Amino acid sequence: MYFGTRQDDRAAFELLDRFVEAGGAWIDTANCYSFWESPTGHGGQSEQVIGRWLRANPGIRDRVRISTKVGMEPLDQGGFEGLSARVVRQGIEGSLERLGVDSVDLFWAHGEDRGTPIEETVQAFGEVASEGLAARLGWSNHPMWLVERAQNLVTGAGLPGFSAVQQRYSYVIPRPDVPIEGQDHPFGMVSPETLDYVRSNPGWELWAYTPLLLGAYDRADRPLTPAYDHPGTTRRLAALGEVAAELGVPRGHVVLAWLVGGDPPVLPIVGGSRPEYLDAAVAGVRLELTPEQRERLDRAG
Ligand SMILES: NC(=O)c1ccc[n+]([C@@H]2O[C@H](COP(=O)([O-])OP(=O)(O)OC[C@H]3O[C@@H](n4cnc5c(N)ncnc54)[C@H](OP(=O)(O)O)[C@@H]3O)[C@@H](O)[C@H]2O)c1
Repeated sequence: MYFGTRQDDRAAFELLDRFVEAGGAWIDTANCYSFWESPTGHGGQSEQVIGRWLRANPGIRDRVRISTKVGMEPLDQGGFEGLSARVVRQGIEGSLERLGVDSVDLFWAHGEDRGTPIEETVQAFGEVASEGLAARLGWSNHPMWLVERAQNLVTGAGLPGFSAVQQRYSYVIPRPDVPIEGQDHPFGMVSPETLDYVRSNPGWELWAYTPLLLGAYDRADRPLTPAYDHPGTTRRLAALGEVAAELGVPRGHVVLAWLVGGDPPVLPIVGGSRPEYLDAAVAGVRLELTPEQRERLDRAG
């Protein structure tokens, strides 16, 4: 998210090079990253940095997959761009230009737009995919009833379908009745229903954002927010601490291993400014839990 705002080209290129060397493939960005960090009040910086990195490394495009999003870029007059046909079309065109590529590998509807009929959004995304500008399509921060309604429309119209959901998810679960600062999407959290949907629809993927809760599992300077203050968290953190100690790894490693090896498997999208955070993420997703450790973690809470 923070390439081009918190991180300059040198720091971002170092992370991207290291990611590819470690065997990483997917790079997640959005047209609106990171408007809240930019004096312009608009996004695009992250895609521009990735574009410059791709151009500086001829041939590297074939080794990475790029996912980007449309829908959450702020408007000058207030509010967000939404998911109208015009916005979706201009969104993909702008992203391709900033990234300097002919197509992306996954294109997400970033947030809900209840002011635009879902039929219009589905049609616009379908056209983007039909024209080969995006290999796959996904929903982020949408309720599952809307995802399913859209899927029915897609099938009926013979349009390319969606196959991925991107929501906030981690090992400890927040209370639903306490707002989380910075989490402005009312249906942005993974729920048991999200897991069931992905499990029951072969070919669908679940991507988890903020999987490390901004470093809270391993950093005293990133405390859990009040929404996590409930007895389930205490029990989950105890189980997590136990398993991490047995394996001799930080708790964040176990969280990533738990996500990747779960049912359904979850793809964690990890952010971070330092090479050692990237190395930790790679170690975490490669860590294997025993069935007994997984069961202990699942049962806690
Ligand atoms: N679809 C959506 O609405 C949405 C929303 C949010 C995010 N996302 C996607 O998800 C990605 C990750 O999101 P996120 O940044 O919120 O989540 P995150 O990965 O849980 O948190 C990243 C933060 O955790 C810290 N960190 C990472 N690894 C660490 C480690 N091993 N030890 C200690 N601290 C560590 C980093 O701190 P430093 O800042 O000090 O490096 C970084 O700020 C984003 O880049 C974006 O692509 C999508």
